[in-house]
Amino acid sequence: MAETDQAPPPSDQLAAMNLTDTVEKHAFSDRVLIRSIVGRPDGGAGLAGQRVRAGGWVKTGREQGKGTFAFLELNDGSCPANLQVIVDTGLAVLSKLVATGTCVVVDGILKVPPEGTRQKIELRVEKVVSVGEVDPAKYPIPKTKLTLEFLRDHLHLRARTNTIAAIARIRNALAFATHSFFQEHNFLYVHTPILTTSDCEGAGEMFQVTTLISESEKLEKELIKNPPPSEVDMEAARQVVSERGEAVKQLKAAKASKSEITASVAELNKAKENLSKLEERSKLKPGIPKKDGKIDYTQDFFARQAFLTVSGQLQVETYACAVSNVYTFGPTFRAEHSHTSRHLAEFWMVEPEIAFADLQDDMNCAEAYVKYMCNWLLDKCLDDMQFMAKSYDKGCIDRLRMVASIPFVRISYTEAVELLEEAVKGGKKFENEVKWGIDLASEHERYLTEVKFQKPVIVYNYPKGIKAFYMRLNDDLKTVAAMDVLVPKVGELIGGSQREERYEVIRERILEVGLPLEPYEWYLDLRRYGTVKHCGFGLGFERMILFATGIENIRDVIPFPRYPGRADL
Ligand code: 4AD
Ligand code: MG
Repeated sequence: MAETDQAPPPSDQLAAMNLTDTVEKHAFSDRVLIRSIVGRPDGGAGLAGQRVRAGGWVKTGREQGKGTFAFLELNDGSCPANLQVIVDTGLAVLSKLVATGTCVVVDGILKVPPEGTRQKIELRVEKVVSVGEVDPAKYPIPKTKLTLEFLRDHLHLRARTNTIAAIARIRNALAFATHSFFQEHNFLYVHTPILTTSDCEGAGEMFQVTTLISESEKLEKELIKNPPPSEVDMEAARQVVSERGEAVKQLKAAKASKSEITASVAELNKAKENLSKLEERSKLKPGIPKKDGKIDYTQDFFARQAFLTVSGQLQVETYACAVSNVYTFGPTFRAEHSHTSRHLAEFWMVEPEIAFADLQDDMNCAEAYVKYMCNWLLDKCLDDMQFMAKSYDKGCIDRLRMVASIPFVRISYTEAVELLEEAVKGGKKFENEVKWGIDLASEHERYLTEVKFQKPVIVYNYPKGIKAFYMRLNDDLKTVAAMDVLVPKVGELIGGSQREERYEVIRERILEVGLPLEPYEWYLDLRRYGTVKHCGFGLGFERMILFATGIENIRDVIPFPRYPGRADL
């Protein structure tokens, strides 16, 4: 029952009641979730006769029967379906309830609607508990179909739309699935730092974190309000010191009383203190502190350069090389100036790291994890997936089923390039030239997964020249044990590798790619002491959502997208 203030039924009545036909009040709120009514297999019909309190935002509302009652489609975000609510005039000013976006809380009785209506249940209101009104002339998110681009300019209200709310539930489900998958397989969840002093990918695409700029601005303002001492001020202060020094000397020569001398020394010390303060202030210079012509990071917050992380991999490896199976799942940041529909400046990455495992194990884990997420959505989010299929991508549910059930194709980079070359010979036009050694472009990846195989493809053993220093060098000395998982709709979903565990080899690789050794000494220690074969990968969480939902732009599957020129809220 929804009402907290009702006495519970006597226990004999309770026993007679069919427990599946009761609806529970939400544990931390005074109303029932709309999902617990309309989300049931019977659409809520079995709950007829129950008294509940419901709350939500009006999707659509209309006055009927010459203003004698109003129909409201109420949604509280707990599921895609709305609860149909009927309010009779006299309970409220109906015109104030019907505008899209209005928040209403109502008490009422659930009833089976007359034959021929779509709904299996509706709420006949007995009391309007509260109303959060909307002025429809001003509300930025009206009922009309709004484009996703338009909604990007209204981030704070866009979760009120069916699409963004469905994406939020799918995103939530995938996060839960992620933890569930790794926990079931005995991986430890490790929190890696957001602020870092290491560049994992070595690609120089990091956002710098510094307080030097704000500190220098503060100082600039302070110096305007309270200017540093001039040379004249300094000279005057020096003069005072020398005069007082002279006074002390004379008193001592004249054998003055002890108390007179003490007082004079105190005056001298005061003058010296004042001079040293002035000297200190005279050294303050506006602007970023420099040393030998370079920015002096020893004066920065961490006494060295710091950045937002591009990947938690290097840090999570320290735990893999101690507790063996780990994963990190957090925000990562890349200052790439890419305006594509697949890139964000802030995105979330899931990064498992497995000790005592090689590239094959890595591919097996990646494939099992992606399949697990597909099954999870089919199992737990079918209503939202049906909405996506209806509104955005007819094939999205079939795609989840396909990916969950068929083995991924696995081909080496060399084979992939051969296939692309064959396609070019057959008349296929790519913007980027295909030849061994290139970094596969998105168009190549999508050709392989969408046209050639029409299923997920894992490409492995890439040329070392296009991959990061930490990937294990293969025996051919030309390729590394890297693997990318490519999926339809998205292209690259996962990037991973077996890590170079041999001390000498990784040291050489760091030097070869032109990175300094010093910042990686701690990483080298993992190879110096008790080194272990290990591997891992990173899954772009937003790309997984694109893949699942068929939404075209990555900016629409993260609540607060950050990309060049935009970081709203
Ligand atoms: O391939 P990436 O760069 O791999 C790494 O960062 C490794 N350190 C991961 C690891 O082995 N632990 O990135 C991994 C995935 C990509 O496959 C892609 O899905 C996603 O992260 N990704 C992005 N997603 C959104 N916006 C961006 N700018 C992205 N860059 C990479
Ligand atoms: Mg990659």
